[in-house]
Amino acid sequence: MNYLLRGIGVVAAVGALSLLAFSVPPGGEARGDGGDDVMPRLTHKAWQQECASCHLAFPPSMLPRASWQKMMSGLDQHFGEDASLDPATEADILKFLEANAADSGDSKMGSRVMRMDKNTAPLRITETRWFVRKHDEVPRATWSRKSIGSPANCAACHREAEQGNYDEDAIRIPK
Ligand code: HEC
Ligand code: HEC
Repeated sequence: MNYLLRGIGVVAAVGALSLLAFSVPPGGEARGDGGDDVMPRLTHKAWQQECASCHLAFPPSMLPRASWQKMMSGLDQHFGEDASLDPATEADILKFLEANAADSGDSKMGSRVMRMDKNTAPLRITETRWFVRKHDEVPRATWSRKSIGSPANCAACHREAEQGNYDEDAIRIPK
């Protein structure tokens, strides 16, 4: 395991703890209380169990349905990892991701992503045009700092990412 994956492991462990700290009723959904960059807190048992063990549970509204469909049909080769699931769990999670995707419903985040990534289905949030544009002030060298490791390590800079808060006030780029 390289340092990057170990880093993700630590982030995931911290994530698991902060999930425990918030007792949202299972199956329920609570809305974030803030601005555009505070995601509604979504809860879905299998998603939280299976998709937040190696990294944080990335907000479904940051990718279109087509991206989630592609991703969920290739979990055995998931960014170099085998993240495969039994068919029932996979279908259950896909349904949840589709229902909350960037092009489902009316989330502000989703419409911002779709405005720029209409006809694409990237597998990475970090490769959406929305993400690249939003982060264009972060210098290239910063992403590869040991304390960050990868743009996918949202929580390195967004200190409340685990709670769905990506607001500017909660950003601190580590040294
Ligand atoms: C066995 C570990 C593991 C599991 C389980 C896992 N992932 Fe991943 N995932 C990874 C790795 C490793 C990456 C690449 C991270 C990087 O580039 O820093 C990744 C990347 C991603 C990305 C892209 C992040 C970006 O760059 O924008 C998404 C989206 C994603 N995973 C969603 C999921 C979903 C949904 C599930 C549950 C079905 C899941 N992952 C389960 C290991 C895992
Ligand atoms: C290297 C630190 C860093 C990492 C890692 C990072 N971001 Fe950011 N993010 C920033 C900075 C800096 C901004 C710009 C804030 C601004 O608008 O001035 C930003 C902006 C944002 C915004 C808009 C916030 C606002 O108030 O305009 C969102 C949403 C966001 N990031 C999500 C993510 C997600 C999701 C990930 C992981 C897939 C991620 N970020 C990874 C540093 C980071």
